[in-house]
Amino acid sequence: MTELRTPAVVVNFKAYAEVDGPGALRLAQICQTVAEETGLCIAVCPPVAELGAVARAVDIPVLSQNVDPYKPGSATGWMTPSMVKATGACGSLINHSEHRFADDIIGQCVSMCKELGLVQMVCAESVAKAVSVAAFAPDYIAVEPPELIGGDISVTTANPRIVSDTVAAVKDVNKGISVLCGAGVKTGADVKAAIELGADGVLLASGVVKNKDPKAALLDLVSGL
Ligand code: G3P
Repeated sequence: MTELRTPAVVVNFKAYAEVDGPGALRLAQICQTVAEETGLCIAVCPPVAELGAVARAVDIPVLSQNVDPYKPGSATGWMTPSMVKATGACGSLINHSEHRFADDIIGQCVSMCKELGLVQMVCAESVAKAVSVAAFAPDYIAVEPPELIGGDISVTTANPRIVSDTVAAVKDVNKGISVLCGAGVKTGADVKAAIELGADGVLLASGVVKNKDPKAALLDLVSGL
């Protein structure tokens, strides 16, 4: 298992048809090739169904797309932190825009992941939400305005203030939290802008997963780190 480090490009595979079944491993291997060729940190979040297969096969950081705050035992259908750990993944997204949790659940997920040494990457839709989840002291907060997710205009172009304001506000609460930004990030120029706005990296999906040439897209993206 490889540790997540900053600056990072984190690729969330979501549930796109391209990453159903063996497609997830194929894309993760492309991410690994680019990480090896460039020496830069590219992490992947495969669909939960493929998490173990991907985590066992690649040597880049692998995060679950979700984790639920349950202990091993009577928790049918939930993804426990213990299960995530057992796959070989190094951590999990928590509260993604497409998988929202109430604040108390977010706090429980963060603390259960911490106990197991899993990286916690909490998503937030606004500066205010980022500040409120910073109280849980997760390793990472990723700010993503929902209206820009899946679109062609990067958050760094459409709303650069949300990136710089989130960085400032989160660091004000806890300097140890790394801040990523996401939504519409597709190019090296977008990544460069994110870094210039103070982010420690980006969280993105469609720019790689839906791209006909994901390797070229990744090479362009990491050129902005
Ligand atoms: O988790 C990343 C995501 O929500 C952003 O998606 O397609 O705008 O890069 P996308």
